Amino acid sequence: MHAFILLLWCGLFVTSLVGGNNETDRLALLEFRSKITLDPFGVMTSWNESIHFCRWQGVTCGRRHQRVTKLDLQSLKLVGSISPHVGNLSFLRNLTLSNNSFHDKIPPQIGRLHRLQCLDLEDNTLSGKIPSNLSSCTNLEELIVDHNLLTGEIPAKLGTLSNLQSFFINRNNMIGGIPPSFANLSSLEAFVTSDNNLHGITPTFFGQLTKLEYFCMAANGLSGTIPSSIFNLSSLNIFDVSDNQIQGYLPSDIDNNKLSVKISTEIGNLINLERLDMWNNNLSNNIPSEIGKLQKLQFLALSANNLYGYIPSSLGNLTILTKLYLQQNNLEGNIPLSLCKCQNLFILDLAQNNLIGSISSQVIGFSSSLTILDLSANQFTGVLPMEIGKFKNLEQMDISENMLFGKIPASLGSCVKLEFIAMRRNLFQGIVPQSLESLRGLEALDLSNNNLSGQIPKFLEHFVFLQFLNLSYNYFEGEVPMEGIFKNMSATAIKGNVKLCGGIPKFQLPKCKYEKSKRRKFILTLNILNATNEFSSTNLIGLGSFGSVYKGILDQGKYIVAIKVLNLLCHGATKSFVAECKALRNIRHRNLVKVPTSCSSIDYQGNDFKVLVYEFMANGNLDEWLHPTSRINEMLEEPRSLSLLQRLNISIDVANALDYLHHHCQTPVIHCDLKPSNVLLDDEMIGHVGDFGLARLLFDATQDSPINHSSSVGVRGTVGYTPPEYGMGNEVSTYGDVYSFGILLLEIFTRKRPIDKIFQESLNLHDFVKAYLPKRILEIVDPILLQKREVGESRMNDITGNEGPNGIPKSQECLILILGIGVACSVEFARERMNMSAVIT
Ligand SMILES: *[C@@H]1O[C@H](CO)[C@@H](O)[C@H](O)[C@H]1NC(C)=O
Ligand SMILES: *[C@@H]1O[C@H](CO)[C@@H](O)[C@H](O)[C@H]1NC(C)=O
Ligand SMILES: *[C@@H]1O[C@H](CO)[C@@H](O)[C@H](O)[C@H]1NC(C)=O
Ligand SMILES: *[C@@H]1O[C@H](CO)[C@@H](O)[C@H](O)[C@H]1NC(C)=O
Ligand SMILES: *[C@@H]1O[C@H](CO)[C@@H](O)[C@H](O)[C@H]1NC(C)=O
Ligand SMILES: *[C@@H]1O[C@H](CO)[C@@H](O)[C@H](O)[C@H]1NC(C)=O
Ligand SMILES: *[C@@H]1O[C@H](CO)[C@@H](O)[C@H](O)[C@H]1NC(C)=O
Ligand SMILES: *[C@@H]1O[C@H](CO)[C@@H](O)[C@H](O)[C@H]1NC(C)=O
Ligand SMILES: *[C@@H]1O[C@H](CO)[C@@H](O)[C@H](O)[C@H]1NC(C)=O
Ligand SMILES: *[C@@H]1O[C@H](CO)[C@@H](O)[C@H](O)[C@H]1NC(C)=O
Ligand SMILES: *[C@@H]1O[C@H](CO)[C@@H](O)[C@H](O)[C@H]1NC(C)=O
Ligand SMILES: *[C@@H]1O[C@H](CO)[C@@H](O)[C@H](O)[C@H]1NC(C)=O
Repeated sequence: MHAFILLLWCGLFVTSLVGGNNETDRLALLEFRSKITLDPFGVMTSWNESIHFCRWQGVTCGRRHQRVTKLDLQSLKLVGSISPHVGNLSFLRNLTLSNNSFHDKIPPQIGRLHRLQCLDLEDNTLSGKIPSNLSSCTNLEELIVDHNLLTGEIPAKLGTLSNLQSFFINRNNMIGGIPPSFANLSSLEAFVTSDNNLHGITPTFFGQLTKLEYFCMAANGLSGTIPSSIFNLSSLNIFDVSDNQIQGYLPSDIDNNKLSVKISTEIGNLINLERLDMWNNNLSNNIPSEIGKLQKLQFLALSANNLYGYIPSSLGNLTILTKLYLQQNNLEGNIPLSLCKCQNLFILDLAQNNLIGSISSQVIGFSSSLTILDLSANQFTGVLPMEIGKFKNLEQMDISENMLFGKIPASLGSCVKLEFIAMRRNLFQGIVPQSLESLRGLEALDLSNNNLSGQIPKFLEHFVFLQFLNLSYNYFEGEVPMEGIFKNMSATAIKGNVKLCGGIPKFQLPKCKYEKSKRRKFILTLNILNATNEFSSTNLIGLGSFGSVYKGILDQGKYIVAIKVLNLLCHGATKSFVAECKALRNIRHRNLVKVPTSCSSIDYQGNDFKVLVYEFMANGNLDEWLHPTSRINEMLEEPRSLSLLQRLNISIDVANALDYLHHHCQTPVIHCDLKPSNVLLDDEMIGHVGDFGLARLLFDATQDSPINHSSSVGVRGTVGYTPPEYGMGNEVSTYGDVYSFGILLLEIFTRKRPIDKIFQESLNLHDFVKAYLPKRILEIVDPILLQKREVGESRMNDITGNEGPNGIPKSQECLILILGIGVACSVEFARERMNMSAVIT
């Protein structure tokens, strides 16, 4: 007990001699504080007089002598320089200032800290040289100054630090070579100097440092060879000399062939190696099969060298290997089947070699934990096997630049973690499987330079993470989608697909001809209501698209019909289909379109479609006649014009049809969508009112029973022809149809659409015509009617001389009458309009 106290006193006495006293520490810490210029967490506010310095944040003192033994201020965002007074903390054993923004030099006064074991200044912005005075810290075990801006050479004096275990200077700007004095660092376990500008050769003495576990000199300018002595270091865990200019394994003056055997044996000595990293050097060997002895190897990177020969099958011995990088060499032959034994492998990169063989047999056995598979730029052949779907963890797959063929297997859609797929420059064909729709995490997809066909999958529009899409040089056809990545021309490459259309204007592709590009073959099974009012089935093969009217031939030419296929995806199509069916089933009139066929559902590639089959009208619709240039019409080869008489007759036909619907049906029918395009003309130019999609009153679209009134809510009709009261939600009524008819009349004779540009302001077609009635009507009627007459046709100018009793030509009188009716029918207030019976008389 006494001896102990004596010893203690002795110790205190001695230390006070060499290291000042507790007041020295306090002053040194205050000096340290004074150099801190920024302290966002307010750590330094606790460094005040109200409490003992041993309790200041980050400060640890020896229990007995109350001297600072440790100063730990890591990760506090401190800015400032390191005060030289820190060298007065003579009992300091551990100085940790890592992960801050300390700048300027490492003070050489730290060299006075003879007890210092750990100096950790990692991750700051320290500059200047590593002070050689640190060699005086004879107890130093850890010298960690990586991630700074240090320059200069490694001080040779540091070779005297015989206790040094860890030497981390990576990520600085250090130059020069490794001082020979380091041969004396017999305690060294970690030598980490990566990412500097160190040059020269790797000294042979490393073979003597038998405790070495981490040897990392990546990304420097090292040249020459790796001394074979290093392969005697069975303690090595990590060996990383990647990204240098190291050649071979052995000095070049020795015969390579003989020595490759020796190297092999030697590398097999590193039985504790967990990481062997020699990528990006100038190694020109084959891979020694002895690597298979490194049973603890988890990481093997020999990429970007000049390695040749086969991949040794002994790699299959490395059962805990997780990452294998052999890309960018000259390796040849097959992938050894033994690699299937590496069931922990999750990165396999064999890109840019000369590997051959069928990909299907080789890939199947790989570990299903694979996350990155890169086999690009080899000479693999065969199909991508269906089994690819088992790689549920796959995030990146690159099989570009091989000679793979066949279809993209639908099973690829099971690899839902995929973020990156590259398959460019192969011979893949067929369509992109719809199953890939499940790969919603995809960031990059490169299918360029293959033989793929079909449409560009629209689901790619919805891939929100997709940043790169290359579909160039294939046989894709049809419409380029417009949403998602397709909005971004710099992210999407589609060139070299000659049959594409549409897309955003920047792609400068031709417009998609909707009717043509979307034409598809379909087979309709129609239930035909035959002459005896019974249904019989018939098949019809057609070519067409949704919404258009096209021609079909039924029952071996017995009927020529017009068919309208409704796109059920279009909102409301079903309802309007039912409506039209019901309306048509119960009404017959010479001026209403006949339906030889009931309305039927059809099956088109498993989809439920609805069709309406009308009597075919050889002369199309009135709109095409009035405005021939504004519509592409497949049935009319050339635009023709209507004579006054024809227009008059058609007007009467329409009036008769409406009169029938309004006044002579069991229940009045309101058409609701009367307009020129719904007036169809047969081969004798007789008008037939068609398209009962919006018809009301006869029925309620959802019930079978007739109803007495119906709201106009939801009745859109067609702008320009719909009466103003429908816009206010009033009930639909026969007066509404009368309004539409009035507008139709005015249009027939003036050939001005109610939505013509000139009616955009306050003026409308009704007011316009009214203003010119009766005297100035010649100024507004269709100019074609004023042209010279043709044989058998009664043109205006023909009859201009043929005056009636009041001095006005008869035809002009007739026009005044008709336009007067048109105006009277299209007055704003519903009740002031004529009714159809009155129109006819
Ligand atoms: C410094 O040490 C002396 C004895 O050596 C002691 O009396 C004094 O209280 C100490 N002061 C501090 C601030 O620890
Ligand atoms: C001194 O430090 C103590 C402990 O952190 C703190 O509570 C006190 O506010 C500080 N005093 C001043 C004046 O900053
Ligand atoms: C560095 O310090 C910052 C700020 O305290 C912290 O958020 C970060 O986690 C630290 N980084 C490391 C590697 O310790
Ligand atoms: C503390 O360190 C500074 C700078 O190195 C020195 O000038 C001063 O004399 C030292 N103080 C004591 C008490 O040792
Ligand atoms: C650095 O060490 C040298 C001798 O090795 C000594 O003369 C010099 O004073 C030391 N510098 C400091 C700042 O301690
Ligand atoms: C030094 O202190 C740091 C931070 O507390 C700690 O992580 C490290 O292990 C210590 N080193 C030694 C040799 O005690
Ligand atoms: C290693 O240390 C010994 C003993 O201190 C010394 O004689 C020798 O010169 C040192 N070697 C090198 C290369 O510095
Ligand atoms: C490797 O170690 C063996 C036995 O310890 C020794 O004989 C041999 O010389 C060493 N090789 C090298 C290159 O240092
Ligand atoms: C790589 O090594 C070969 C000899 O194997 C040599 O001819 C070539 O110059 C080296 N390349 C570099 C960049 O060092
Ligand atoms: C390594 O693999 C080879 C071939 O696959 C085998 O012959 C050998 O026995 C294995 N060696 C060890 C140490 O597992
Ligand atoms: C590409 O596909 C077409 C059929 O889509 C086929 O005729 C052609 O032979 C294929 N070309 C190659 C190189 O496979
Ligand atoms: C109408 O269809 C029914 C049922 O298929 C058939 O029995 C009948 O003969 C058909 N009548 C005519 C006139 O085609």
